[in-house]
Amino acid sequence: MSATRRFFRPTWAEVHLGALQENLRRFRRRMPARTQILFVVKGNAYGHGAVECARAAQTCGGAEWLGVSSVEEGVALREAGIRMPVLVLGSLYPFESFLAAVEFGLMPTVASLDSARRLVEVAMRRGQRVGCHLKIETGMGRIGMSPAAVAGVSGYLAAQRLVDVDGAYTHFSCADGDRAFTLEQLRRFRGALGEIDRAGFSVRLRHAANSAAALTLPAARLDLVRPGLAIYGLWRGFRPVLSLKSKVVFLKTVRRGAAIGYGATYRARRATRVATVPVGYADGLCRRLSNRGRALLGGRRCPIIGTVSMDMLMLDATDVPQARVGDDVVLIGRQGREEISAGELAQAAGSIAYEVVAALTARVPRVYFS
Ligand SMILES: Cc1ncc(COP(=O)(O)O)c(C=O)c1O
Repeated sequence: MSATRRFFRPTWAEVHLGALQENLRRFRRRMPARTQILFVVKGNAYGHGAVECARAAQTCGGAEWLGVSSVEEGVALREAGIRMPVLVLGSLYPFESFLAAVEFGLMPTVASLDSARRLVEVAMRRGQRVGCHLKIETGMGRIGMSPAAVAGVSGYLAAQRLVDVDGAYTHFSCADGDRAFTLEQLRRFRGALGEIDRAGFSVRLRHAANSAAALTLPAARLDLVRPGLAIYGLWRGFRPVLSLKSKVVFLKTVRRGAAIGYGATYRARRATRVATVPVGYADGLCRRLSNRGRALLGGRRCPIIGTVSMDMLMLDATDVPQARVGDDVVLIGRQGREEISAGELAQAAGSIAYEVVAALTARVPRVYFS
């Protein structure tokens, strides 16, 4: 073993950037030719690594835009040499962040009259016209101006003549389920767009759709779509990009009745071969997988037994008699003919695939493949 290895603890995530680029191409093929793609890389690209994923998108030309949730996330991309247009999807509070956004060439979101005023101040201070996208609240209940407030905000911006409305957007709350609710959100959004037009702006980029809406509701595609989930391969028909792997570091056989893990929540029902795997909740693996989740070992699904601890968990490896210390364990991904998806893990944990991958902590080394 070489001492120059980047990590010794055998728990890592493999990120296949080639699969991500393929997903961008697949997604593009399913959209109308005129619809632009904003690839959402917030939350460290849903745990996949924002800079690496953004660079992969930039290299293959798979998206016109990137979406982040804060100025900090956008600045990190700029400092890594990412030149693509970047939209800051979150609220730009505190308002000083507008200045930083403009300085780093990030497109700010204006979600209220107050924030519109602050952006005008920034434009005055810098003596330059700046652009923005207006965020319109149509049913998500998170951030954004109500459709009734849109006329006031766009009228104010038109009068100031310092801030252009380059885009306007909303966000769906039930795009993967409630079609009627989503269509109602779209109807409200269209009404608000009319108000921006009446203020004299011709909005170039009207957008609303996340992965689910873009793939299942053609009317929601508009000028630009904002996929995240599908590009990471977490939607049917797309290739999963991330695998989470580890190795067996300890093996033993315990007698019937033996206790396993904190709180002795598991008692062996038979003589049990127990494999200890160095991955736990400090890596982002949800503790609710205790006595519920499974992992792949020797090409078989082995139950997680006992509570998941901070740095380790135990598997029942009785049905894999050939298992040895050093064998690969797959928590997310494929081994032989078996596969555990982030969605399956999420279901066992009572969560969603987004959280499973976004929760992976900095302690898990990401190993990139092209
Ligand atoms: C404003 C906004 N747009 C787009 C997305 C991407 O959604 P998805 O990952 O479901 O495609 C998100 C993600 O939560 C978002 O917050």
